[in-house]
Amino acid sequence: MQKPAIITIDGPAASGKSTLGALLAQRLGYTYFDTGVLYRALTYLALQKRVALDDIDGLVRLAEQMQANVEPPTVDDGRQYTVSVDGQDITWAIRSPEVERNVSVVSAYPAVRNALREQQRSIGRRGRVVMVGRDIGSVVMPNADFKIYLIASSEERARRRHGELTGQGRAIGFETVFDDLHRRDALDAKNTLRPSDAYIVHSDGLSPADIVGEVLAVLQQRAQA
Ligand code: DC
Repeated sequence: MQKPAIITIDGPAASGKSTLGALLAQRLGYTYFDTGVLYRALTYLALQKRVALDDIDGLVRLAEQMQANVEPPTVDDGRQYTVSVDGQDITWAIRSPEVERNVSVVSAYPAVRNALREQQRSIGRRGRVVMVGRDIGSVVMPNADFKIYLIASSEERARRRHGELTGQGRAIGFETVFDDLHRRDALDAKNTLRPSDAYIVHSDGLSPADIVGEVLAVLQQRAQA
């Protein structure tokens, strides 16, 4: 089967992008690149270095200097990959409530997005990669050979996110998760783009295995066409 060199997966928060991306990359023997990590790493650094989150020039400078490294897991603690900046392991730090609360603000600035676009492209150009994000198939890698856009209802997405957070030991109510997701959707909406040539997956009620199976079947059909 002729495999596409670059597969993109876009969609809103908690639509199942990272689960599908990781599984698909594993099945195909590709690199899995979750681009949200770069926005999270930048937000973490800004908070740590006390760069104000409305100081756009300061954020852009930080983004340009940032040497974020994403590699296969270096610790067996349930992580999908290890993220580090300046030699510091920030894999879990970028999932903290503080980063979670502020990342949508940082990622909404067009100048910040420009600064991080090249870093994403240079990893994508290496090929044999599954890239996950919001605007990957439309803006970052518009020439990718296979694009997926994931859709799920707000209730299903909130249920998934709530399950993830309580699974990590966080005491948080469903309503709070639902409201947070709603708030983030509004902030992310402008940059969550559905490519016109994407294969759409409605993931409500489907297991990760179902979805990977569906996508692999489509890839096979396209290779034979
Ligand atoms: O997918 P995530 O929750 O890790 O993304 C974190 C933030 O980064 C979220 O606000 C959306 C934003 N993001 C983006 O704007 N473009 C991307 N390609 C990836 C993430």
